[in-house]
Amino acid sequence: MKVLVTGGLGFIGSHTVVELQNEGFEVVAIDNLSNSSLDVLEGIEKITGKRPEFENLDLRQKENVQQFFKKHADISGVIHFAASKAVGESVENPLLYYENNISTLVYLLQELQAKETAHFIFSSSCTVYGQAETMPITEDAPVQLALSPYGNTKQIGEEIITDTTKVTNINAVLLRYFNPIGAHSSAEIGELPLGVPQNLVPFITQTAIGLRKELSVFGNDYPTPDGTAIRDYIHVVDLAKAHVIALKRLMDKKNQAKVETFNVGTGKGSSVLDVITAFEKVSGQKLPYKIVDRREGDIVEAYANTDRANEVLGWSAESSLEDALASAWKWEQKLRA
Ligand code: UD1
Repeated sequence: MKVLVTGGLGFIGSHTVVELQNEGFEVVAIDNLSNSSLDVLEGIEKITGKRPEFENLDLRQKENVQQFFKKHADISGVIHFAASKAVGESVENPLLYYENNISTLVYLLQELQAKETAHFIFSSSCTVYGQAETMPITEDAPVQLALSPYGNTKQIGEEIITDTTKVTNINAVLLRYFNPIGAHSSAEIGELPLGVPQNLVPFITQTAIGLRKELSVFGNDYPTPDGTAIRDYIHVVDLAKAHVIALKRLMDKKNQAKVETFNVGTGKGSSVLDVITAFEKVSGQKLPYKIVDRREGDIVEAYANTDRANEVLGWSAESSLEDALASAWKWEQKLRA
């Protein structure tokens, strides 16, 4: 079965290509290389023994998308990662985000709606919940007004997909990721942040390797046990596996609705200081850090209730925070070796 993975050379995309190939799927990956590198293809090949078919394609060009589906008429399964994801940048340049994340989604769905049947897996985010009132967060928690254009593209994306499935043969799964971290255990693929990392774990590994002087911990006056903010850090390989399971669910017609939504997290909340402590344990290194002001737009805490993913999807996270951090550290060391 042939599957299209958009953003297939990106962080989560590349790990998903590996898991798909491990499960015997034939993958066509597309990517515009705006936040990824062709070297990722080598990494995927080293792990799986197979180089996925690849096209350097920008989904913002509608004709490209049309041409692609003409050429690959047998594709009816799509896992859609291609999108921009930097919150601050989205505030600076909202139209870039609406074009990158929304126009591209529309073009893809326009091609899929022409098919007899189509399966669509969407990269959504726990950002749709904003600061949820109760922890852990279930999928029934209300979607709150987005705090950034980036967050808004995830909400609008979910709505576009939901509206479209009502009147087409497209079935979809919306996966709301918590905080993806880590790398493949082989260290052949991992996260490749552009410039100074905005996310916690790549900043930690770059600090430990000596690329950054120290980590700034954004706030220690939150109403949490140690005062630092709490997130649910999910190993990227566990997250990748959730996509394969969701796609199979649609292909096997096991879905109970045209659109199903699942939280993808571990169910465990960890504070920034917990992450630092766990990193120091697995790396055997002291991490230099200082406490600074809160980062604007950050929420206090977010961790998933994963009952629905566990019981309905039949997926659960297998890796611990330590496993994930150890893999991220191994990847960073290999990158800089
Ligand atoms: C961020 C985005 C989220 C997006 C996700 C994509 C914001 C507000 N949210 O999630 O919408 O889906 O990235 O990957 O940007 N921290 C530090 N020092 C650092 C970096 C982070 O203390 O140098 C803290 C943050 O304050 C937060 C935690 O670490 O409490 C995790 O931060 P991060 O990795 O950026 O993820 P989110 O902010 O949860």
